[in-house]
This record gives sequence, C-alpha cells and structure tokens, in this order.
Amino acid sequence: MTTNIAVLVSGRGSNLQSIIDNIESGYIKEAKISVVISDVGDAYALERARNHGITDVFIDPSDYSGKQEYEKEIMQVLEDNDVDLILLAGYMRLVGKDLIAAYSNRIINIHPALLPSFKGLHAQQQAFDYGVKVSGCTVHFVDEGMDTGPIIIQNCVPVLEGDTADDLAGRILEQEHKIFPEAVRLFVEGKLKVEGRIVVHT
Ligand code: GRF
Repeated sequence: MTTNIAVLVSGRGSNLQSIIDNIESGYIKEAKISVVISDVGDAYALERARNHGITDVFIDPSDYSGKQEYEKEIMQVLEDNDVDLILLAGYMRLVGKDLIAAYSNRIINIHPALLPSFKGLHAQQQAFDYGVKVSGCTVHFVDEGMDTGPIIIQNCVPVLEGDTADDLAGRILEQEHKIFPEAVRLFVEGKLKVEGRIVVHT
C-alpha cells in the first residue's frame, strides 16, 4: 500500500528535493508526496513541488487567530490528502499538541546537529561557535518538546581546521540528504519500532 506523505517546509527545500529524488529513483518505494505545505508564501520549496507535479499549499499563519486554528487548517489539508506520514523539512515552527496527537510517531524531523546537543535555530552555527570537533545531523520522531523526540538515524561529520560555519553547514547538509531519505524508506517499509525513547530498526 502506498504511504501518502506530506512535507512541511518554510524555505529553500533541499531536503524536500532529496525526498522527491529518492522516490523518483525508486530508493523509497510505495510512497508518494501527496502535498507540500508551507507557512511562507514565497518559499522556494513550493516551486520545487510544482516542478514535480506535487500539490503545493501555502497556509498563512497570520490568517488565523492562533496556532491551534492555524494547525486545524493544516490538519484539514492532511485529511483531504489522506496523509499517513508528515515530514518536517526545514519547517521553522514548533508543531502543536493536537497535530502531534493526531499523528503520533508519524511526524519526522531533520535537525542539523547531533541531538541532544544544539537544539533549536542555527544549530550548525551553535556547534561551530562552541568549538566542537565533530557535528552532524539527526532524523527523529517529533514529540512535544523542541528537537527532543526519539532518534531514528544520526550521521556525523568532522569540523576541519580553517572551516567557516558555512563550510560545516554544507558538510552537514550532504549527510542530511542521505539520512532523511533513509529514515523515510525505513518508515515506509514498516521497519521502525518506537520503544519509549529508543527507535529499533527491525
Ligand atoms: C536543514 O538544515 C534542516 O536540517 C533544518 O533546516 C534546514 C532546511 O534546509 N531543519 P532545506 O530547506 O531542506 O534546504
């Protein structure tokens, strides 16, 4: 059975692109991106969706009285598109509890640091400024905390002599484009089991 995926975005959408490419190449089988939803009207990710014939929807948070109302609209779109799995691919908002409850262990996020270090915004810069010698990225299920859900896959990269924060971010991004599709493939194939904080690959 096909897994219907919604991808939530706010920006350039390179992670969205990696998921699209891995579905088109057949690395992720039996899955379809049914809809891409953005909270930013001119996000380049929306154009990427259109380029691949994927339904794109802009939902403007400022049109709603609050987060709950705004997410109610998101949930309507998810329902209309029969969505089974939600991917947060550079979506710059915390997901509220109603949406999390409706899609328990079916929302996956990509974060550009080795969690639980450097949660939140500008994680690559945070890690760089801290002076770490190794950083990386984390794909995890989303719970009510910020970047706190059960970890599915992590990959690390070195911080090299003479690097800028941008060099590090680029090196991390290359790994993001590998582990996010890998995690989606495992989910779609029913190979992820969540036992408390631990995600078992079956
Ligand atoms: C990525 O670094 C991702 O880890 C973070 O936001 C960035 C989104 O980049 N959550 P893109 O829009 O996928 O290119």
